[in-house]
Amino acid sequence: MKEVWVLHGPNLNFLGIREPSIYGRQDLQSINEKVQAEGAKNHINIQCYQSNHEGDLIDKLQEAYQKNIDGIIINPGAFTHYSYAIRDAIASISIPVIEVHLSNIYQRESFRHTSVTAPVCIGQICGFGPIGYLLALEALKNKI
Ligand code: DQA
Repeated sequence: MKEVWVLHGPNLNFLGIREPSIYGRQDLQSINEKVQAEGAKNHINIQCYQSNHEGDLIDKLQEAYQKNIDGIIINPGAFTHYSYAIRDAIASISIPVIEVHLSNIYQRESFRHTSVTAPVCIGQICGFGPIGYLLALEALKNKI
């Protein structure tokens, strides 16, 4: 059975509470359950993890490498725009990583138009809300 990790960055534990006009009303647990259900249909075990801390996400990326995880879906939250450390961690591992954003970061404030992490991912999906995680899983299926 393949294993995919879904990593959520800062403030994503506040989905459903934070800025619902941008991020919607669905909470993180419900998003995770939908991705896990889709994974199960495809014989892919999905483990979900959220942290508000940059180092924790880096530790998780390195752990994924050590455990030979097949693929990663990551929403680095605001770290997307400035964390060279998370970028380096993604670049360090030979695991296909897909970046997801709920909102269309290119329609928003200019500081969100840059992703320092996307260039080291195999692709980026943004602007489709929670469905983005399912689209990422669909894309990953063909890579793992
Ligand atoms: C986000 C977009 C980021 O700019 C923001 O900082 C987030 C969420 C998204 O999913 O749309 O925390 O990654």
